[in-house]
Amino acid sequence: MTVAGVKNICVVGAGNMGHQIALSAAIAGYKVKTTDVNQEILQKAEQFVEKYLPDRVAKGKMSEEVAQAARSNISFTMSLEEAAKDADLVIEAVIEKLDIKHTLFRQLDEICPPHAILATNSSFIVSSKIAPVTKRPDKVCNMHFFNPALVMKLVEVVKGPHVSDETANTVMEVCKSMDKVPVLLKKEIYGFLVNRILAAINKEAFYLYDMGVAAYEDIDTAVVYGLGHPMGPFRLMDLTGIDLAYYIDTERYQETGDPANKPSPIVVEKFVKGEWGQKSGKGFYDYSKK
Ligand code: 3HC
Repeated sequence: MTVAGVKNICVVGAGNMGHQIALSAAIAGYKVKTTDVNQEILQKAEQFVEKYLPDRVAKGKMSEEVAQAARSNISFTMSLEEAAKDADLVIEAVIEKLDIKHTLFRQLDEICPPHAILATNSSFIVSSKIAPVTKRPDKVCNMHFFNPALVMKLVEVVKGPHVSDETANTVMEVCKSMDKVPVLLKKEIYGFLVNRILAAINKEAFYLYDMGVAAYEDIDTAVVYGLGHPMGPFRLMDLTGIDLAYYIDTERYQETGDPANKPSPIVVEKFVKGEWGQKSGKGFYDYSKK
C-alpha cells in the first residue's frame, strides 16, 4: 500500500502522546479513530481536542475550516474492534510493557484489514520484538513521535530487518503529509537516535546532581541558557514522564546487566512516590497550581 491508500488511521492509547498524534493526523485530513481501555483518559483526550482546536482558531494559528474538519475527522471509542476494523494504519501509543503490546498486536492482527500497517510509537521497544506475534511482520514498524506531538516535527521511522521497503516508504510519506519531518533508521537500535542522545545528556545531568555539584533547577538553567535548549533535562523528564524514564532505564539495565544503565536513585524515588511529572501534577517541579 502506498500513502494514497491511507485514509483511515487508528490510534490506540489516548494518553498524552496518543491523543496528540491522533489530532495531528486529523488536522492533516485523515479519518482518525482514537481508542483506549480507560474511559477517563479517552474523555480527557476528547476534551483536549474540543479546547485545542478553538484555541488555535482564536490565536489565529488555524482557520475555522481546518479546525471544523479536524473535529469531524477525529472520533473516540472504547471499542478496539470499532476503532481498528477499517484502519489502513494503526499507531499504537500504549504503556511501554512488551506483554501488553503483544496482546494488543495479536488482537490488531485479527481485527485489521490484511493491508493495514501496524506501527508502534514506543520510545525504545524495537518492532522486531512485536512483529512476530502477527502474521504480517513486514507491515509492523516503529513510528516514533516526540512530546508534545502537535508541536515537535520529528518522527523516527525504524526499518527493522522484517519491515518491507513499501511499509517504510508509506510510513515516511504519511509523516510528511502530517507536516512532520521523518528520518529513516536503516537498522534497529535501542533508543533510536534522539533518545540515545538524550540518555547521554540525562546521564551526565544525574551524575552532576548525584555528586551534589548543583541543584537540578540550576542544571536545567545551565542547559537552557548555556546550550540554548528549550528546557533542561529535568524539566524535560517531567514533560515526557518520569515513569517512562524509569521503564527505559530498567529495561536497559535488565537487557545489558550494566550497572551504568540503572535508573538514577532520584528517578526510582520519584517513580515509587508516583511523582511522574506533569501528568501527575508533580515531578522535579510542582504543577499542581497550573
Ligand atoms: N501541547 C500542544 N502544544 C503545545 C504544548 C503542549 N503540551 N506546549 C506548548 N505547545 C505549543 C504552544 O501552543 C505554542 O504554539 P504556537 O507557538 O503555535 O502558538 C508553542 O508550543 C510554544 O509554546 P509556549 O510558548 O507555551 O512554550 P515554549 O515556547 O516554552 O514551548 C515546548 C514549549 C514546545 C514544550 C518547548 O519547551 C520545547 O520544545 N521543549 C522541548 C521538547 C522536547 O525536547 N521534546 C522531545 C522530548 S523526547 C521525546 O518525546 C521522546 C520520548 O520517547 C521520550
